Amino acid sequence: MQSILAPSLLAGDHARLADSVARVENFGVKWLHIDIMDGHFAPNLTFGPGTVAALRQTSKLFFDVHLMLDEPHRYIEAFAKAGADGISIHVESDCDHVETLARIRALGCKNGITINPATPVESVESLLSSVDMVLVMTVQPGFGGQAFRRDMLPKIARLAEWRLDRGLDFRIEVDGGVDLSTAKECRSAGADTFVAGTAFFRAADPASFAAIFAGMK
Ligand code: DX5
Ligand code: ZN
Repeated sequence: MQSILAPSLLAGDHARLADSVARVENFGVKWLHIDIMDGHFAPNLTFGPGTVAALRQTSKLFFDVHLMLDEPHRYIEAFAKAGADGISIHVESDCDHVETLARIRALGCKNGITINPATPVESVESLLSSVDMVLVMTVQPGFGGQAFRRDMLPKIARLAEWRLDRGLDFRIEVDGGVDLSTAKECRSAGADTFVAGTAFFRAADPASFAAIFAGMK
């Protein structure tokens, strides 16, 4: 599966979000990862549907919206209307996952299921045939700039194994502490979609950073 880089807006300039989005687009990247936190599920507050709608007016990027919310089902419609292209919910969040994932698709978006570092990968096994993406957190949700959790690599490998054995085609995305070197480890384990916040926005040469991801085998 073709590798995709999804720079995380969390590491962008919050006073000039549109400029940060343009920076992503200008470097030939196709996806933008947007972290939504409610201060309950994750100990931070970030963006709302209004921000996503405003940025939608400025960009054609694929908006990969990662909901770190206690009750994600209450907000998926608002984010879909705001212009999300993909919406991922957490398996640890309090909602009917099967129903919420189906509603995300019915709203015209790709859906995703996310697992925290402490959550076993088996918790999403029964959902695999109903998702477009599985997002493996390689840090505890909340903040950018944390260290990559190498002990998450076996989860990626297991997902890749299930995908192959069952003839499924969901993407495997990793999020947290992803840079060129940890991305390669994730790629070898079977990941194809890479969220990079700090590593992208602090890169001395974002164009070659993006190019390396695009060509990653
Ligand atoms: C963490 C977020 C990540 C974050 C990653 O809660 O889900 O998307 O922006 O940031 P880096 O790439 O800096 O670890
Ligand atoms: Zn994220």
